[in-house]
Amino acid sequence: MRHLLSAADLDLKAISSILDLSEEMSTVQDRPVKKLPALRGRTVVNLFFEDSTRTRSSFEIAGKWLSADVINVSAKGSSVSKGESLRDTVLTVAAMGVDALVIRHMTSGAPWQASQWIDAQVINAGDGTHEHPTQALLDAFTLRRHFRRTDPALSDFSGKTVAIVGDLTHSRVVRSNVLLLQTLGARVILVAPPTLLPSGVESWPAEVSTDFDAVIGSADAVMMLRVQRERMSGGYFPTAREYTVGYGLTRARLGRLREGAAICHPGPMNRGLEISADAADAANSLILNQVAAGVAVRMSVLYHLLGGADDNPGVTS
Ligand code: CP
Repeated sequence: MRHLLSAADLDLKAISSILDLSEEMSTVQDRPVKKLPALRGRTVVNLFFEDSTRTRSSFEIAGKWLSADVINVSAKGSSVSKGESLRDTVLTVAAMGVDALVIRHMTSGAPWQASQWIDAQVINAGDGTHEHPTQALLDAFTLRRHFRRTDPALSDFSGKTVAIVGDLTHSRVVRSNVLLLQTLGARVILVAPPTLLPSGVESWPAEVSTDFDAVIGSADAVMMLRVQRERMSGGYFPTAREYTVGYGLTRARLGRLREGAAICHPGPMNRGLEISADAADAANSLILNQVAAGVAVRMSVLYHLLGGADDNPGVTS
């Protein structure tokens, strides 16, 4: 794998390889000394033009646990605030001899563009409303573990239904998840108010509904998406109250979930808007499992890109 720019870059074999290695990587989390030598001497730069808690921290932890040197550069506090362009910023960082660039940018396509300018390997950590492939991988890792509790031999998501609910228009998470879940064989149902359905959604490899109540009982997992108010200039519609009534995972809707159905949310959450506190903190909520999975999955992705996918990274040594 040269870069990770889109979930479309990954076929079933590649996804399985990343998720299987993530299982091994996750064992490092329980060790008193969380360090593998696999990427010693390699340098990873996290270049973040947008805010992040989970993605940036987990890429940093992942790189450090693999013994890479990890440097964080964010737009705030860098020469970007003096007007330096994306191209000059990327070329400047690459000129220092980095091996991998992890990029988050508010413009769709920015990581792909960066990959055309430099020799270092590029990982998309979220670009505009386009994609967030490592989020989809960590979601798949979390769901695979959940489904394997009742079906230990499960290899793909055939026969499983995943409902992705919320602000689809502004979500990069949904685009990567639809691609990845389709490759894994899941049935995907997208649910949103008509005003938050992206144009062209009919051509996506998923079913589409505007009626959450008609869908909720058929899902093995519901993935609630954040209402991205910061990307809605001039307010948003429906109103917050209307949104919660129609599309929120409220206490009342919790009781209508299938038994054992998983609750996911990529975070950060708007508690009380798209998800109630009862749902976020429910026994079947996997939200913190997703956060924990972020480290193991990003270790696996870094290793696949920088370490040679067929070598044992020394997890078991
Ligand atoms: N899910 C996600 O990308 O969260 P952050 O914005 O905190 O990285």
